[in-house]
Amino acid sequence: MIRKKIVEILESNDLLKDFIIYGWVKSFRNNQFIALNDGSCLNNLQCVLDFENTAEELINSINIGAAIKVKGTLHESQGRGQRVEIKVNELEILGKANPEDVRKTILSPKRHSLEKLREQAHLRVRTNTFGAVMRLRSKLSYAVHHFFNQKGFNYVHTPIITGSDAEGAGETFKVTNFDLKNIPTNEAGEIDFSQDFFGKETNLTVSGQLEAETFALGLSNVYTFGPTFRAENSNTSRHLAEFWMIEPEMAFCELDGNMDLAEEFIKFVLAYVVEHCADDLAFLEQRLLEEEKNKPKEQRSPMPLREKLDFVIKNNFKRVSYTEAIEILRNSKPNKKKKFQYLIEDWGADLQSEHERYLVEKHFKCPVILFDYPASIKAFYMRLNEDGKTVRAMDVLFPGIGEIVGGSQREERYDVLLDKMKALSIDPEELWWYLETRKFGTCKHSGFGLGFERLVLFASGMNNIRDVIPYPRTPQNAEF
Ligand code: 4AD
Ligand code: MG
Repeated sequence: MIRKKIVEILESNDLLKDFIIYGWVKSFRNNQFIALNDGSCLNNLQCVLDFENTAEELINSINIGAAIKVKGTLHESQGRGQRVEIKVNELEILGKANPEDVRKTILSPKRHSLEKLREQAHLRVRTNTFGAVMRLRSKLSYAVHHFFNQKGFNYVHTPIITGSDAEGAGETFKVTNFDLKNIPTNEAGEIDFSQDFFGKETNLTVSGQLEAETFALGLSNVYTFGPTFRAENSNTSRHLAEFWMIEPEMAFCELDGNMDLAEEFIKFVLAYVVEHCADDLAFLEQRLLEEEKNKPKEQRSPMPLREKLDFVIKNNFKRVSYTEAIEILRNSKPNKKKKFQYLIEDWGADLQSEHERYLVEKHFKCPVILFDYPASIKAFYMRLNEDGKTVRAMDVLFPGIGEIVGGSQREERYDVLLDKMKALSIDPEELWWYLETRKFGTCKHSGFGLGFERLVLFASGMNNIRDVIPYPRTPQNAEF
């Protein structure tokens, strides 16, 4: 007898054959019908019990949440709602679930808020919504590797522990193995990091970019896909303190090629899940419609989920310079009527999420790539333009999300880079290895970073980034 996943059984035509199935009980009706789920797909498998010939004690243990093993025969279903079902020949309880206790959890069969699910994050993968999101997340991450692999990019594992702050924003989590109650200091009273594990000050990485750049300058096209950490005190539905980032880096490539790659990449991975996650996406689309039913019309999504994904896959992203965008924003209704929280007055202003979303959702009504930002609001490594005041930066902005990608052409000129670092008080000694790549065969190169959870957020139609990662880390929260 062979063991099958429920997804295989539901697609199978092996009627009258015997199978072994494992899963968790979702519901049990009339002492007869078990809805079984093993997470292999959204749908449950109906297992029909011959209750007259089943011991009462066993029947009493078939409770919601219990883990069971079923041996049975596949039949066409007599009932409505499913094509096939399993007639149970043997049933074994592998892990009991006490109904009294289950009732207090999100496993109980009623609607639970997403907040409640977060409080029981260790159980939420058993819910339809979170299960669907996690399958989608897994498929998306597979699609990421698929895309870069087929384009000949090498996957590089950049370090998690590092001595540098790639973004220079000072939002790093420190790494140390000092006894925090007894931190060694030097004569000047400063912390003596030479006695720490690495003999220097270290932190968790905020981005693998700098190391990825060094690899691109040898392997030509590379990408990283790993966890990154930011001690940024942003309590929003778009920020995590620990998130996964995909960072491709290409040698001999300028900003236009970088924008092309970002657009092609996003379209590819979305098309991949549209094709391979049909059931989960249909479910998530329905979930979103339900959720938005009670919202005023202007707060609802303009398109159902799958239509929105199709729209992004089929239409060109609009490419607009920062300077043009500022003009649009300055003359926009919400700016004139002082509806923006941060009003746009002068060139040079940093764009807030409200501005990004205005451009995408109200003005252009499609994904937008903004480029050539003022040097003063961007990181040190971006290539300075001829005008001396803008850099070859680009951000991809998405409806409902705002910034999903941040990238740039890199400053490949040694002297210009050195001057920039000095101007921003970034110690050239600390980044000597990064600078050195500009001395030995430097070349034009570009790359970007895509926040993986923002992508999952967009693809799933969920509203809070905490609901698209297994265990979210946010300010004041690192439970589980
Ligand atoms: O714009 P960011 O900060 O760019 C970089 O880190 C560059 N080193 C990338 C590169 O050029 N290789 O971050 C890139 C993306 C953002 O566009 C956003 O999608 C995501 O990472 N991101 C976050 N996602 C969740 N929570 C946060 N706190 C995030 N901060 C950035
Ligand atoms: Mg950014």
